[in-house]
Amino acid sequence: MKKTLSYLYKKEKITMITAYDALFAKIFDDIVDIILVGDSLNMSFLGESDTLSATIEQMIYHTRAVCNGAKSAYIVCDMPFGSYSTPQKALENAIRIYKETKADAVKLEGGAEKAETIKLLTDNAIAVVGHIGLMPQFSRSEGGYKVKGKDEISREKLLKDAKAVEEAGAVMLVIEGVKEEVAKEITESVSIPTIGIGAGRYTKGQVLVWSDMLGFFDEFKPKFVRRYLNGAEIVRSAVRKYVDDIKSGRFPGEEEIY
Ligand code: KIV
Repeated sequence: MKKTLSYLYKKEKITMITAYDALFAKIFDDIVDIILVGDSLNMSFLGESDTLSATIEQMIYHTRAVCNGAKSAYIVCDMPFGSYSTPQKALENAIRIYKETKADAVKLEGGAEKAETIKLLTDNAIAVVGHIGLMPQFSRSEGGYKVKGKDEISREKLLKDAKAVEEAGAVMLVIEGVKEEVAKEITESVSIPTIGIGAGRYTKGQVLVWSDMLGFFDEFKPKFVRRYLNGAEIVRSAVRKYVDDIKSGRFPGEEEIY
């Protein structure tokens, strides 16, 4: 059964994971509530050093793949850097996402300054997920990935941003890289569900990038990631075995030939 917003709103804890293709989307589909086609795919899938060069075409391509694989999860597509720099541009690109994929919502980074954009999309029948706190699309202008909510000014700004995003009509709010007590305060101050990543224990839901939590990206592990599998190591040892079997003549065997 397709997961709707009204179903998600009733849940105690909302589970979200990223996916970028039909294969993994199909595996995650009936286990998690929400699949996020994050612009993190630019790093995780494409191997770039940040998310900034992700394009709308890329996001649409991967979201179509995810929608083909997932039949029940609620699907969110990230709007890439530069694709929502004005409200009108955001509307045109969000309409493309809705027309060319089966995404249930789009996600965009920003607080009060994006309220007008969120309202315009919402008024045009597009569900929007907000994203505040550490916003990866700001990593270059801010000179890195910085945890937010560490002082009073930052706390107040986050609370204001969350309220503005909610009032503009966002259906959910991702809070990334924020001190736990501030993420808790935000969660208690808005009526839309909050989904945390590196934002502690008290958000309504949690999200992780699939390749981080399954250990396929194993160059380093951010503090907030829990690894549930040593994916890269498991794959490396399976591929080594395959190579050994070819070299030794054990593959193909009797049962694998016509
Ligand atoms: O792009 C992404 O995967 C995200 C998550 C980190 C929330 O925005």
